[in-house]
Amino acid sequence: MLVEWTDSISTLDENIDSQHQYILKLLNLLEEENVRKKRNPKAVLAILKKLLQFLELHFKYEGIFMKSIGYPNQDAIDQDHTHFIQQVNSMIADFSDAEFVDSRVINMLQHGLFNHIRNEHDFSRYKAKVKEKKKKWWW
Ligand SMILES: [Fe+2]
Ligand SMILES: [Fe+2]
Repeated sequence: MLVEWTDSISTLDENIDSQHQYILKLLNLLEEENVRKKRNPKAVLAILKKLLQFLELHFKYEGIFMKSIGYPNQDAIDQDHTHFIQQVNSMIADFSDAEFVDSRVINMLQHGLFNHIRNEHDFSRYKAKVKEKKKKWWW
């Protein structure tokens, strides 16, 4: 099932929003390429590796950002992040040219990440702090 970014999961931070949009785009690409794998067997693996690399960067960025606005539940969020990295790592380790990635595994990752974005990145209560940060941050 394809997952779409909507305004309702906006975090108020444009950088994080565009990173989330890119993550969801990669997940949709992964699903599409997985179905067409017989045409291009290396494409699925390439997307998985790109996803892993991008998630690592994104989680680092997010960790710094959340700390800077005093966002709560850091430990639980870090645990979620570690879990997603492990999930993608094992998808790469289990990858076999001869077979499709189990679509249930992809769906699990899609839904896990989507729910994580929707439920754990509610910066609305921190609106003032996010605005203040925006003025100070130049990247
Ligand atoms: Fe996150
Ligand atoms: Fe995120």
